[in-house]
Amino acid sequence: MAVREIMIYPEQKAELRRKSDPVMGNKRPVRRLIRDLKDTLQASSDGIGLAAPQINVHQRVVIVCPGSEKDGQWEAGPPVALINPQIVEASDEGKDFDGCLSFPGLYGETIRPHHLRVTGLDEEGQPIDRVFEGFNAVLVHHEIDHLDGVLFIDRIEKLEDLYRLTVNADGELVRVPVSDKLQLDSSL
Ligand code: NI
Repeated sequence: MAVREIMIYPEQKAELRRKSDPVMGNKRPVRRLIRDLKDTLQASSDGIGLAAPQINVHQRVVIVCPGSEKDGQWEAGPPVALINPQIVEASDEGKDFDGCLSFPGLYGETIRPHHLRVTGLDEEGQPIDRVFEGFNAVLVHHEIDHLDGVLFIDRIEKLEDLYRLTVNADGELVRVPVSDKLQLDSSL
């Protein structure tokens, strides 16, 4: 088990904003990186995806947990790795729920494609050509963004679409709008 430290915004902004490099040949370090990403994701309470730069490794590897609808609720599936993922088709843009392990407690409605076709390699190094639909497309798009230093706060339409979740006096989970720009990023 190798749980790694997750880079947090804005403290580790420089690491999160750095562009990642394509993964080359040598298989053992890549397998180790995938294992570390899976272990780190599993140790997080509510993560459904993780990208290598989030553990300060600037290589184009992400882990996603594509899921399915069960009784109208989306449920995450088992984690899969995508190596050197490339988006070859993206359409059906719309607002959907978003959040990120590098922004603990912060959520929002981002605009992302709901149809995504991705090529690259699977964790055995075999070529893949996969289509993701609905929230799975949102999830995969979010993780691939990380490889280019793009974060979910960049994908919102307006600041009011971001919120924190907190428990009120009645024990209910409520949304608290992020009113102060500076809490996030002076450039947002
Ligand atoms: Ni993220």
